[in-house]
Amino acid sequence: MRELVEHLASGHKLDAQNLNTLLHGCVEDGDVLQLLRESAVRTAREQFGLGIYVRGLVEVSSYCRADCMYCGLRRSNRSAERYRLTADEILECCKEGYALGFRTFVLQGGEDGTHSDAWLEEVICRIRSNYPDVAITLSLGERSEESYARLRRAGANRYLLRHESADSELYASLHPASRGLEHRLACIEALKRCGYQVGMGMMIGVKGQRIDHIVKDILLMSEYDCEMVGIGPFIPHGATPLGSEPAGDIRLTLATVAIMRLLLPKALIPSTTALATLSPEGRNAGILSGANVVMPNLSPSDVRKKYAIYENKASWGSEAAEGLAALDRELRAIGYHIDFSRGDYIK
Ligand code: 5AD
Repeated sequence: MRELVEHLASGHKLDAQNLNTLLHGCVEDGDVLQLLRESAVRTAREQFGLGIYVRGLVEVSSYCRADCMYCGLRRSNRSAERYRLTADEILECCKEGYALGFRTFVLQGGEDGTHSDAWLEEVICRIRSNYPDVAITLSLGERSEESYARLRRAGANRYLLRHESADSELYASLHPASRGLEHRLACIEALKRCGYQVGMGMMIGVKGQRIDHIVKDILLMSEYDCEMVGIGPFIPHGATPLGSEPAGDIRLTLATVAIMRLLLPKALIPSTTALATLSPEGRNAGILSGANVVMPNLSPSDVRKKYAIYENKASWGSEAAEGLAALDRELRAIGYHIDFSRGDYIK
């Protein structure tokens, strides 16, 4: 096991069989996991020092035409409370965020059919002209390449589109109404062609996922050489078909984060809200596995509970934009601090 970790840490790849062995090793033996995490932390510190980038998350709409089995915002969830921010409300979030020090705004939302290219273009142009020095990240699901291109020209820099699973059967079982993995990957490739910094990722521990599926995810993200990687544990939401399934394993999540750090040393990897939601130590544990980004919630406080992709989603205290001082204190307790710069991917 030690050799496998050292192999990764010295910049080499591992094949599927070795990745499988390593992930099993991490689940079965805490010492192996610890060794892997320490290597990942070393690599992250070489790249980014002790600064953790912050991104202000604006949840622009809870309407969604998709019907993902795991997500509380799925179309079939009649009990979900729906809202849609106006352009002015989004700009107000950015104003507050900018004053707090954020230099990246992430506009995230369900696949809201009313979000036309023209409307989004206007929102992006307004943010861009008010704040020329910020990075604008979009996380709005599958759209056409023309749409991605237009939003990119309007001033968006980055796009998060998790691939969700590199296995087409597992992908199909989680997204029964979607156009499938092939279409998702085509979107990711379109985003790359448009010149976005692209984020991929998936949940750990969702129903039907085995370790060999995670190995495929790792190999796919490594092959695509993506700039950002989002990995969090699955958390059940009662009003979804997976509502009584167990949550994902934290150790397996941390092991996967650490492996991605070693495979993609320069990638921007958040310690996800899902990790922070599952355990009070979750956010620090992600950072101590090689993550280097945190995404505090900048949405208006009255909509935060409505953006329930899973239950009890952390959006207060140090997960909230107003809680930056608390976040910085918690980071300092483990030797890190907030880095307020834009934090672009550097080749
Ligand atoms: N648990 C954890 N993560 C989830 N996501 C959606 N639903 C859940 C859940 N129940 C993740 C998906 C999606 C992102 C917005 O959040 O990976 O891409």
